[in-house]
Amino acid sequence: MAIKVAIAGATGYAGGELARLLLRHPEAKLVAAVGRSSQGKALRDALPHLLDAPASLTVGADVGDAEVVFTTLPAGEAAKQASAWLAEGRKVVDVGSDFRLKDPKDYETWYGFTHPAPDLLRESAYGLTEFHRAEIKKARVVANPGCYPNASLLALAPAVRAGLVSDDFIIDAKSGVSGAGHTVDEAYLFGSIDSSVRPYGAPKHRHTPEIKQDLALMAGKPVRLTFTPHLIPMTRGLVATCYVSLRDGATAAQVKEAYAGAYTEEPFVRVTSRFPGTKEVFGSNWCLVYATVDEANRRLIAVGALDNLVKGAAGSALQNFNVMYGFPEAMGLGALPIWP
Ligand SMILES: NC(=O)c1ccc[n+]([C@@H]2O[C@H](COP(=O)([O-])OP(=O)(O)OC[C@H]3O[C@@H](n4cnc5c(N)ncnc54)[C@H](OP(=O)(O)O)[C@@H]3O)[C@@H](O)[C@H]2O)c1
Repeated sequence: MAIKVAIAGATGYAGGELARLLLRHPEAKLVAAVGRSSQGKALRDALPHLLDAPASLTVGADVGDAEVVFTTLPAGEAAKQASAWLAEGRKVVDVGSDFRLKDPKDYETWYGFTHPAPDLLRESAYGLTEFHRAEIKKARVVANPGCYPNASLLALAPAVRAGLVSDDFIIDAKSGVSGAGHTVDEAYLFGSIDSSVRPYGAPKHRHTPEIKQDLALMAGKPVRLTFTPHLIPMTRGLVATCYVSLRDGATAAQVKEAYAGAYTEEPFVRVTSRFPGTKEVFGSNWCLVYATVDEANRRLIAVGALDNLVKGAAGSALQNFNVMYGFPEAMGLGALPIWP
């Protein structure tokens, strides 16, 4: 029997991507699509790419008899509802940010709200699948990583876990406009983004504490991070270029060895032999990782490239769902990137 699932926020970019993937997943049945402004519409009319979604699947206000709720809501919205869903015996996979940070105070500092369910922060599993499988498998609440943290952490993890680098990181990242969702805003109009690249958010971008939190866990000590994302004139795709000094005594050969062995068993991470581009992962659940050492400055340059809506959001949520239910991890995620 397929697992009954719902998407809360189904009419947005991440929710629509999740619907696209779930409609082709052999062990999931999408039974409810929750949205705000399109209520009453068939999902396939609200989102034009969902051509063969059942006509009976209309956008509504509740999650029906779903066993799992995928939430793709703005910050603060999933936290208000998750306790009730869990009390009803459902599991929650939050593609948003409401369960990623372990310290409730961080929500006041970085998100500007008091977290309504701090106990769930202790309970939730951080959904960076490659490094938290055991917790994800047992979890009732999975906090899917943000798109920038996903690429950055996969890029840096082999060096950090091997103890080859210092604790002072700089990440310079670029993302297409779908990263901002389908909200209409002057900043995202074609006339604003076309032929332009713009940094934003630094030094207080909300993904900063999340990246720091998991880097500190990998390093076994607190870390420093300056994170600057950029908006670039394309729809999908994200690349994170990460810089950190090599620890005294660490060598380029050790870095090479750490990356060569890091992801050999992973279904969706590949270490490349040249800088990866976002087009090489377009529409897929892959994250491409590349690392090189700037010998003159004794600095690691590590790059992660992924599709922000797939591996950066809906795809990794589905990967986590597969882990939670013991399905093959790549189930429903087999599509290769689209090229050119
Ligand atoms: N976009 C990405 O690349 C990406 C990657 C990773 C994680 N995320 C996270 O995923 C979540 C969704 O992002 P998105 O880009 O898909 O945003 P989006 O396109 O704006 O979609 C948000 C969805 O939530 C609904 N919604 C908005 N405000 C609501 C409210 N107050 N109450 C109930 N429903 C509400 C929207 O309904 P309407 O259709 O009526 O607006 C829409 O279905 C965010 O938390 C984001 O941080 C996004």
